Amino acid sequence: METSVQKPRVIVGLGSCGIAAGAAKTYDKLQQLLSSPEFDFSLERTSCVGMCYKEPLVEICDSHGRVIYGDMTAEKVEATIRKHFLENEIDRENAVSAEKFDGSEDYFFAGQVKIALRNCGMIDPESLEASEQAGAYAAIKKIVREGISPAEVIRMVTESGLRGRGGGGFPTGLKWKFAAQSESDEKYIICNADEGDPGAFMDRSLLEGDPHAVLEGMMIGGYAIGASKGYIYCRAEYPLAIKRLNIAIVQARDKGYLGRPLEGSNGFSFDIVVKEGAGAFVCGEETALIASIEGRRGMPRKRPPFPAVSGLWGKPTNINNVETWANVPWIINHGPAAYAAYGTEKSKGTKVFALTGKIRNGGLVEVPMGVTINDIIFKLGGGIKSGKAFKAVQLGGPSGGCIPASLGHTPVDYDSVNATGAIMGSGGMVVMDETTCMVDLAKFFLHFTQEESCGKCTFCRVGTKRMLEILERITEGKGQAGDIETLETLAVQIKNNSLCGLGQTAPNPVLTTLRYFREEYEAHIHDHRCPARVCKPLLHYRIDPARCTGCTVCAAKCPAEAISGGRKTVHHINQEACIQCGECYQVCRFEAVVVE
Ligand SMILES: Cc1cc2nc3c(=O)[nH]c(=O)nc-3n(C[C@H](O)[C@H](O)[C@H](O)COP(=O)(O)O)c2cc1C
Ligand code: SF4
Ligand code: SF4
Ligand code: SF4
Repeated sequence: METSVQKPRVIVGLGSCGIAAGAAKTYDKLQQLLSSPEFDFSLERTSCVGMCYKEPLVEICDSHGRVIYGDMTAEKVEATIRKHFLENEIDRENAVSAEKFDGSEDYFFAGQVKIALRNCGMIDPESLEASEQAGAYAAIKKIVREGISPAEVIRMVTESGLRGRGGGGFPTGLKWKFAAQSESDEKYIICNADEGDPGAFMDRSLLEGDPHAVLEGMMIGGYAIGASKGYIYCRAEYPLAIKRLNIAIVQARDKGYLGRPLEGSNGFSFDIVVKEGAGAFVCGEETALIASIEGRRGMPRKRPPFPAVSGLWGKPTNINNVETWANVPWIINHGPAAYAAYGTEKSKGTKVFALTGKIRNGGLVEVPMGVTINDIIFKLGGGIKSGKAFKAVQLGGPSGGCIPASLGHTPVDYDSVNATGAIMGSGGMVVMDETTCMVDLAKFFLHFTQEESCGKCTFCRVGTKRMLEILERITEGKGQAGDIETLETLAVQIKNNSLCGLGQTAPNPVLTTLRYFREEYEAHIHDHRCPARVCKPLLHYRIDPARCTGCTVCAAKCPAEAISGGRKTVHHINQEACIQCGECYQVCRFEAVVVE
C-alpha cells in the first residue's frame, strides 16, 4: 500500500462493522476515483474507531487536519470527496469528527480514554510498519533493552491494578505470579478470544483493529511467566479477526519478534498460533477452552488444579482475555502508576464497552472505570433511540444482570456493578427502553444458557430447563401462583450446585429482573397482562369507536379475518378469532387500535 507524507490520506474503516455497512464498496469507489487525474491521494485502510453507528467511515488527513466523514456509502462518497478536494471545502453535513471545527459527533470521542483501543481505527491493522510507528513492540524492546526482569514485569502489572477483562476481574499480576511460580520445562500462554456473550464485540474489534497489541501483550506475559508458546483461541465466526491475526503473526515472525530468540534477550523466544473454536459459549470457560485446544470436547472440569499449575497438556498455563492482553504493553510503556491513575480504588484503568440495543450510538467506547452508567448511555451513547424512556441495561451478558434506570447513577467498577446483582462481565451493554418486557428478556438469556449448558451437572442441565419452562408459561399467560418462588428456589440451587461459571451465573438475569421488575412478573401471572406489550398471548387488541373512521385498512390487512365493519362505519375485533399479530395496530393511521 502506498503511503506518502505529502499526499492527502484517505482512510476507510474496514472492520467487520464497516464492511457490513458497505465500506468495501466505498473503498472500491475511492479506488475508481483515484484512477481519474482529478484526484491524487493515498488510499489506506484502517479498522473500526468505535463509531459503528456511523459506518462506513472515511477519514481524510490533509491541510484541513483530520476529518472523519460518516455514512460514507459508495453512493455518497464521491460528492464528499469532490467537495473536499476539488472545492477545497469540508463537507460539514457529513463530517462527524474534525480537528479544526466541531464535527457533529465529537462528543463521542471526548468522553473516552483509549488505552486498549489506542490504535483501533488509527492504523492499518495489516501493516507491521504502521503498527510499529504507533508503538507496537516498543514495550517488549524496552524490557529487553533495560533488562527488566520477569519478576519486575509482574510487579509492574500488579501495581497497575489491572484486573482480567474477560468477566471475572481477577488481578492479572497475581495470576501471572502463580504461573511464574510453577516449575516446568514448558509453560503456555493463552489468549481467550472466544467472546461468547450475546451483545459483546469488543474482542473482535480489538483483534481486527490492532492485532499486534495482543501479540505483544502475550509475548510479555510469556516472558514474565517463562512460557515459549502461546495460543489464541478465537471463535471461527470471526474470520476477519482470524485473518488479521494470522497476517500479524507472519509479519512478527518475519521481523524476528516471534519464532526465534528475541535480539538481546538472552534467549527468550516466543511463538503464537491461532486455534479456531466452534463458538460454543462454554468453551470460553478456561478449563473447557484448554480441553478444546487439546482436541477434546469443550467441557469444564473441577478446579483445583488451576491452569497456573496444570493447564494445557498438563503444563502451567496462563489465560487472559484479549482486552487484558492489549492493556499490557501500554502499562510497560507508560508505567503502572499512569494506568492506576485512571479508575477507582479497586478497579483501575479503563474498560471497553460494547453498546447495543435501544441506544442511538451503537458501537464501542473505552472509558475510565468509575464513570456512571448514565454518562455512558447519555453522554457517549447519545441516549435512547427514538426518544423513548430508558428502562434498564443488561451488563455482563447471560452471566450478568439487569440494572434498572433508577440505578443509572451507578459507577461502572467491579464492586459497584456487583452490588446491583449484575456483573461487569466482558463489557457488553445491552440498553433497553420501555418497550422491552423484562420477563421476556430473562427468558431470552435463560434460553441461551440452557442451550449452551454442556450438560455435565444436573442442576445446570435440568434446573435451567425447569426455569425456562416456567418463564415460557408466564409469557404465554399461563403463569401460576408460586411460580416466582419456584424460580427463586431453583436459582439458588443451580448457583450453588453447578461446577462452572456458566451454571453458577445462569440464574442471574432472572434474579435481577425479579429484584427490580417483580411487578412485571406479577402482572403477567396474576393479571395476564404484559405491561411492556411484548408477550403476544397476553395482548388484547380493541378498536376505539371514537377514533375509528371506518377506513377498512385494518380489516383488509388482518390475516385472521377477525375485524368486521363496513366502509365509514366503526370496526370491531372478534377476540375469539384474533391471533394478536399486531398488524391492525401497525396499519391504523388514526390511532384507533388500542393494545392492552
Ligand atoms: C461460561 C463461561 C464463558 C466464558 N467466556 C469467556 C470469553 O468468551 N472470553 C473471555 O475472555 N473469558 C471468558 N470467560 C472467562 C474465562 O474463563 C477466564 O476467566 C478469562 O478468560 C480469564 O482472563 P482474564 O483474567 O483476562 O479475564 C468465560 C467464563 C465462563 C464461565
Ligand atoms: S455448570 Fe453447566 S456448563 Fe458448567 S460444567 Fe456444569 S453443566 Fe456444564
Ligand atoms: S384502520 Fe383504524 S380507522 Fe381504519 S377501520 Fe381500522 S381501526 Fe378504524
Ligand atoms: S391483532 Fe392481528 S389478528 Fe388480531 S385483529 Fe389485529 S390484525 Fe387481526
